[in-house]
Amino acid sequence: MLVYDYSNLIEENIGKEGLPSNFLETNKELLQEIDNEIKAKRQDGSFGFMELPFHQPELNEIKKIASDAHGKWENIIVLGIGGSSLGAMAIHQALHHHFYNLLNAEKRNGYPKVFFMDNIDPELVQGILEVIDIKHTLFLVISKSGKTAETLSHFLFFLEKVRKEGNPIKQIIILTDPEKGPLREIADNEGFRAFSIPPNVGGRYSVLSAVGLVPAALLGIDIDALLAGARAMAKRCETIENPAYLFALIQFLFLQKGKNIHVMFPYAQALLGMTDWWRQLWAESLGKEGKGPTPVKALGVTDQHSQLQLYMDGPRDKIITFITVKDYRNEVFIPHCFKDFPDLAYLGGHPFNALIQAEQLATEAALTKASCPNSKIVLDNIDAFTLGEFIYCLELATVSCGLLLEINPINQPGVELGKRYARALMGEPNFQEEKKEIETLKCIHAKV
Ligand code: PA5
Repeated sequence: MLVYDYSNLIEENIGKEGLPSNFLETNKELLQEIDNEIKAKRQDGSFGFMELPFHQPELNEIKKIASDAHGKWENIIVLGIGGSSLGAMAIHQALHHHFYNLLNAEKRNGYPKVFFMDNIDPELVQGILEVIDIKHTLFLVISKSGKTAETLSHFLFFLEKVRKEGNPIKQIIILTDPEKGPLREIADNEGFRAFSIPPNVGGRYSVLSAVGLVPAALLGIDIDALLAGARAMAKRCETIENPAYLFALIQFLFLQKGKNIHVMFPYAQALLGMTDWWRQLWAESLGKEGKGPTPVKALGVTDQHSQLQLYMDGPRDKIITFITVKDYRNEVFIPHCFKDFPDLAYLGGHPFNALIQAEQLATEAALTKASCPNSKIVLDNIDAFTLGEFIYCLELATVSCGLLLEINPINQPGVELGKRYARALMGEPNFQEEKKEIETLKCIHAKV
């Protein structure tokens, strides 16, 4: 069971920078109001992501397509960006071998290699062609709106290749809105297999919809366990004192104290993708109307040797959340050698597991001594169930924090404007107004 340990945020432990130990008591009414609002928004369908663990009309179809595809493909390429890519990428990274694509097919249990194309850098686009065989590749085209230029340009590019060398009907699967948008129309007209992204689930909240489940199932991940984990967390969140509300409240209270940089610091390489996913969720949901924290991702232990100096001793504008894992999936020992060298000798005989856990605790203790607020999300281990818990917890925490900040955590007007400007610059005739707007913006060209 996921545990949220916030001891190192309390005044008694970190001094006046912390929260009084009765902070929960004094904010109970506020949490009750947030809970009422969340329940109302779940009821009226605005927070559609909350239904995903319970309601998956296409679940059997997803499992069928995955079992039919097993053993048939060398590669899967996911074409999508932002919320249409980060979640699936994070789940894959968390649950698969660190060097997954380098394993042979047998060690991958017959599941394909996977590549996430979430950038349009021409070198990347060209590069992927050099490592895959188009005929043996399955493409997932994921776009809720069906209009995102990056995803659609990839779709056009790879469709042309598949038309020449393969079979588009077999090799292309589309995930988009059930009714609206050009991708849906194209899927219907061309006969591509398609899955639906519920209209009331925004991109960055969609990992537990087909957006995350289709790629996960095709890669052999236990999607039932993922959803079961999310359901278990949803159940815990029926009472007010739950990890999601507490995480949100704490980040909110520290924002009021000027801690506007929120660092997520996992001590597990496998969770790095999850911090990328959280960073987008937190940034795009909460950065509005001049408000919002800046999310930062760090990795233990790597970033102890890169960022920690700043966290300990730099501006006091940060709150840190560690993610720790009790049981790593491997236990690997450091050999005894050079017994006469104390700098090396003390390491011998210990597992790396103990070393990484000691380094995490040491960092936590040092931050606490320096009065830097820090807390930790503790996972028993990393598996599909705990990921489901983690995902649901942070999604609920994000909307809760949005409501505490009195902003709409579901929209993303800033991103939309950039999308419209990009279309205007690429010559899309329906975006003439935006083209004019860009031309009238006073850009100072200062160069050296
Ligand atoms: O969270 C969001 O809404 C965004 O990050 C979108 O997921 C991203 O912009 C891609 O949009 P779409 O799925 O419509 O292609």
